[in-house]
Amino acid sequence: MTHLLGIDIGTSGSKALLVGEDGSVTASASTEYALSTPRPLWAEQDPEDWWKATVASVGRVLLESGVAPSDIAGIGLTGQMHGLVLLDFEGAVLRPCIMWNDQRTGSQCAAITDKVGLKRILELTGNPVLPGFTAPKVAWVRENEPEVFGRVAKVLLPKDYIRYRLTGEFFTEVSDASGTSLLDVARRKWSDEMLAAFEIPRDWLAEVTESPEVSASISADAARSTGLVEGAPVVGGGGDQAAQAVGAGIIEEGIVSATLGTSGVVFAASDEYRVEPEGRLHAFCHAVPGQWQLMGVVLSAAGSFRWYRDVLGEMEMQRAKREGRDSYDLLTEAAAGVPAGCEGLIYLPYLSGERTPYPDPNARGVFFGLTLRHGKAHMTRAVLEGVTYGLRDSLELMRGLGIKPRQVRASGGGAKSPFWLQLLADNFQSEIVTVSGGEGAAYGAALLASVGAGIHDDVRAACRTALELTGKTEPGPDASVYDKYYPHYRALYPALAPSFAAVAETVAKEDK
Ligand code: XUL
Repeated sequence: MTHLLGIDIGTSGSKALLVGEDGSVTASASTEYALSTPRPLWAEQDPEDWWKATVASVGRVLLESGVAPSDIAGIGLTGQMHGLVLLDFEGAVLRPCIMWNDQRTGSQCAAITDKVGLKRILELTGNPVLPGFTAPKVAWVRENEPEVFGRVAKVLLPKDYIRYRLTGEFFTEVSDASGTSLLDVARRKWSDEMLAAFEIPRDWLAEVTESPEVSASISADAARSTGLVEGAPVVGGGGDQAAQAVGAGIIEEGIVSATLGTSGVVFAASDEYRVEPEGRLHAFCHAVPGQWQLMGVVLSAAGSFRWYRDVLGEMEMQRAKREGRDSYDLLTEAAAGVPAGCEGLIYLPYLSGERTPYPDPNARGVFFGLTLRHGKAHMTRAVLEGVTYGLRDSLELMRGLGIKPRQVRASGGGAKSPFWLQLLADNFQSEIVTVSGGEGAAYGAALLASVGAGIHDDVRAACRTALELTGKTEPGPDASVYDKYYPHYRALYPALAPSFAAVAETVAKEDK
């Protein structure tokens, strides 16, 4: 059978996924690498580690599946977005990649926002310049590592560096390029005005294609290192969120996804270019030509629940071990016994600051409204309700822009909990479904490759073969209770923001 190969340069490892032309997964292999944090708020990785891990993962899927490399009709790349890879004139990496979760560029973001103005930046790129994004990192290197900056010839995103190693060519595609602060997201091409504002020469950047387009092919060198066939086509691929959305069929306006992972992501496909007037949602190009994506991120979603279990769930963890049960299930069973709204107890999930709708690194987690009546089951339920309200914030912003969700597809660890799915259905006031698959971004990248290889006419046709609905949850009677408590949740951040800032200042002084 003809196969497609998806490669995902993730934050913790590189995954290779072989997918048959019928959409079935034939083999999967992942190879981990390290992340270094040389200073607080910094996060770096060595691009050479991505390459070695990719060679290992591709070698393993080929070996374990027995699929002949000549049967691989196309290769799709995806990966962590926003990272900065700098190359010199020889194509050598100049310094470790500054990653998406690196927060060192606060002052560079403030400077460019002062220079260009938030309104103009939103007009040009659809998003504020955020510390994780790529261009302010270039500015940081200019200011802090002039000897490196003086040798820069190319600026690449993580998956596009792997494309360079696989093909010898410099290309990117619209969905990942959207997270650089340099793409004119409406027109799907580099913004000369933003390039000029950042003083970045145009020829440092790779050419931009649409995501399912073939941009290059496997080189003779890469064929020798990976076992792939020289000349095999490589499509643009996508940033991890866009590729994952393709893998989950989020390619129609009205179909929205909610991912309950460590962080939570609400993602909507949009047929029009829509920008939240204050830039509170990410507005990026989708990996589907002619579509855009809107995205909101709750940084501590299932991560809040894990923190809560680890700190307060010792008893449940021990009982789970004795009874062969899941500690999260034991906690949610008890939480189901207290009323929706937790009799006024509200949790704010900002354990590591927040991204949407408040891009505030100083925001902190809060239990608000504790009384003598509240016990552990209330606290458990409040954590899950608070995270769900946080996700609802993103959905409400999308609704405000005219997105009308018909169906929300839930995924990630939290979506295994029927209790949490019901909370989502009640709060989103939409049916929540789960779909087969779960292979994430690499799967979406393989589907994009199937279009580039000519197996499917377009991304929509590629998705049709692949997906099956596995469960459905409808809104229930508690929806009206959450409607009463959600405004109270929303009022808390604005009331507490000055205190979050003041406490952060005190903590910073204490740390010195
Ligand atoms: C997207 C984002 C993450 C990273 C790492 O804006 O920051 O999805 O791409 O996964």
